[in-house]
Parts: sequence; structure tokens; C-alpha cells
Amino acid sequence: MSNRVEAAQKSAENIFGAVHGPLMPKVICDHGEGIYLFDQNGKRYIDFSGGPHVVSIGHGNKRVKDAMLQQMDKVSFFFRGFWLNEPLMALAERVIKVSPPNLTMCQFCNSGSEANETAIKLAHQYHIEKGEPEKHMVISRWQSYHGMTLGALSVSGHSLRRNKFGLLLHQWPKIGSPLCYRCPYDLNYPSCKIKCAQALDEIINQVGPQYVSAFIAEPIGGAGTACMVPVPEYYPMIREICDKHDVLFIDDEIICGFGRTGKWFGIEHWGVKADIITSAKGMTGGYTPMAVVIIDQKIGEVFTRKGAAFIHGFTMEGNPVSATAGLTVLDIIEKEGLVERAAKLEEHFFMRGREKLAHHPTVGDIRGKGLLMGIELVKDKQTKEPFDPALRAANRFQQIAMEKGCMGYPTTGVDNGIRGDTFLVSPPFIITEDEIDTAFDMLDEAFTDFEKEFC
Ligand SMILES: Cc1ncc(COP(=O)(O)O)c(C=O)c1O
Repeated sequence: MSNRVEAAQKSAENIFGAVHGPLMPKVICDHGEGIYLFDQNGKRYIDFSGGPHVVSIGHGNKRVKDAMLQQMDKVSFFFRGFWLNEPLMALAERVIKVSPPNLTMCQFCNSGSEANETAIKLAHQYHIEKGEPEKHMVISRWQSYHGMTLGALSVSGHSLRRNKFGLLLHQWPKIGSPLCYRCPYDLNYPSCKIKCAQALDEIINQVGPQYVSAFIAEPIGGAGTACMVPVPEYYPMIREICDKHDVLFIDDEIICGFGRTGKWFGIEHWGVKADIITSAKGMTGGYTPMAVVIIDQKIGEVFTRKGAAFIHGFTMEGNPVSATAGLTVLDIIEKEGLVERAAKLEEHFFMRGREKLAHHPTVGDIRGKGLLMGIELVKDKQTKEPFDPALRAANRFQQIAMEKGCMGYPTTGVDNGIRGDTFLVSPPFIITEDEIDTAFDMLDEAFTDFEKEFC
């Protein structure tokens, strides 16, 4: 091991929460360029997971760097309570322009968790201002992930991430996920009559609609369900149920928003309206931490009518340097047609992914949309039995893939919240078909090596 790596690993011990023990990284990320990351020895890796799911326009974009520096030359920070913030106004206008037409306002924050925290509070205050202060519960799905802060974790159905903090969380009800590969209701589509959507109506009736504020869901699954794509009937049914009970639909597009699935927002694949969209990762492409909550006009109008302010905000929210980064990234996404590019690449991405990987005995399922793919790793392809969680199969696969030069994101818990290994890939939108082929060749080899250890 090089001195530089040893020194970095030693200093990493000063960072609480860093990955220690067998999962401690063994390479330094030295720099990035386009779809590639380079380590301390100059070895090149395809950033095939983009972050996870962050890097939209690629690494090292000079336009973004120059715009941020120019803004820093002027001013890096001022408090939002005292000054109008021009880059932020421009960013808000841009976000609204590409958002579904019913969403006409936005509030910015610094992470996906903060955005969902904001949405949960906003939904409740909306009902308070409307004269229904008891509507407070947010219903969500098992195997979902909405963030690490206490409100966002309360609505996350990710058992591994929740369990140690159970006493701190709201124990709000959750329904099964629309994951056909592992249907939580043991049914088959279409004879199931979309039981996973009907479950929302049942649970709202059981707990009492007068207590339910919102339903939150990722349009296409993330860490918990590895890019699960619900059937076409699912979101129209969810929308109808929400309307029937005056429950807001919070659409968590932290991953899917701003082009990842081949449309500006994932929910557009179902042609369904959300009342609140939260988004983050690809919006600034990793150039700065930033997230957004985009809000239906009817919500804004209730606050305006009451003359009420939303009692919520963060010191750093919408700071001018982050706003400039967001604005430039969105400009690049729009001008270079990167959403359309993600949509166009989908066919090749999934065709090549299936061709190279589906034959492997440990690949149970490949699913997703646009440039967002989940690969489920199984011990037994016929029975779908997952690996023993103690083996950390997804983490081991990630290490092997990285040795081959391909980055991907390992997750666990898809089966019952505790078991089930998955590997997510979501490359920058600027990737070419040839680069996709190279990455899947690397993953093909990685599965061959993985199976020597695990089969
Ligand atoms: C769907 C979804 N929501 C929320 C979050 C939380 O975002 P952050 O890690 O920026 O707090 C994530 C993070 O991966 C996510 O995938």
C-alpha cells in the first residue's frame, strides 16, 4: 500500500461515521473528468453509478467551475432574510419552467433528507392553515428510502437504516412496495388488481383520513427496491386515492429528478400530478450540495390567503454559489439535450446490461428506467433466495467491480428490509454507447469472479 494511501487511511480515523474495518476504502479519489474518476496511481474508473445517482453532466465541467468562481468573486454568502438573491431567483424560474405545470413555487435546501423533512412539515402546515390541524401522518412504503434525518427516516421503510433509532421515529403506517419481482402481497400482475395501490386506501380508512396529511413515494425505487418500476396503473390509482381523502402526494425525486429516467421528473412516465416534488442529486450534479422542494400552486395559495409564512428554513439554503452551480448545471442539461439523451440511451443501456449480465447464475433481476438500473444478486435464481446478509455479497461485488475499473452502488434490504443484495448503476448522462459497453464488459467479468467466491 502506498504511503499516501496509508496516511489517508490513518487520518480517516478522525472522521466519525467513516467506513472503518474491512469496508475502509483502499484508494484515494484524486480527480475526475467526464465520466471517469482517477485514483492516486492514475488508474481510471468509469463512474458508472455517478455518485450514487448524483453526477449528471460529468466531472470537471469548466463552465460550472467558472460560473461558481465568478459568483465567489462577487459574493459567496449573504443571509436570505435581508437580501434578494439573483442567482436563486433565476434558478427557481428555471426549475419551475421544467417542472409539471401545477408546481409553481420552490424552496431550496441542502440535501435530499432536508427536502423530505421540509415536505413533511409543509404538508402538515398546509392542512393546519386549511383548518384541519389533525392531518399530520405521512404514509409511505416498506423498502423505501427518504433520508437519514428523523422525519425523513420515519417515512423510510428501510429496516436496516431505521432499526437502531426506532424509539426516535414516528411510527406511521407503511404499505407494501409495488415490486413485482418480490410482491409483498404474494400476487401476480395483472390478476393482483394492483393490491399494492389499493393498500393505501385501506390504510387511510383504517387510521382515519382526518389524521393523514400525505403519502410519500419515490416514483422509481432507489436504494430500498433497486430501481423498481411500478406498473402503469399504480400512480393513477394512488393519485385518485389521495384526492379522495384530501391527502397530499409527495413525490420523492431526489434520484429521479432532472433527467435521470429520461424525463425531467420520473412521475411524468405515469402522467400523474404530484402536489410536492422533492429533488436533489442530479440538479447540481455534485458540484455543490443542494436540494429543492417544488410546490403546487394550491398549497401556496392557502398560505397566501391566510397571510401565513411557512415556519421553516435553513441558514445555508439557496446560497448564491450553490444557486449558480444549480443554474449552470440545469442550463447545460437543457442546452445539451441531456434529458433526451438519457431517454435515447435507455434502450442500449438495458439491452447491453441484460445481454452481458442476465445469464449469470447470481443475477436475479435487472430493472429500471432511463439511465437508472438495479441489478438484484441472488443465491438461487429459481427460488429468488437472497444471500446470507453476513456475507455482505453486494459490498463484495462492489469491491470486485471497482478492481475491474467500474463504479457501482451496493445496497441491501430489498427482500424483507434485512436481506437481499442489489447493485445500482446510473452513469452520467454524457456517457456514450461504447463506454456503456465497456462498463458492462467489466461488470460481466466482475460477476464471473464474484461467482467463483459465492457459488
Ligand atoms: C430517494 C431518496 N430520497 C432521499 C435521499 C436522501 O438524500 P441525502 O442523502 O441527500 O440526504 C436519498 C439518498 O440517497 C434518496 O435516494
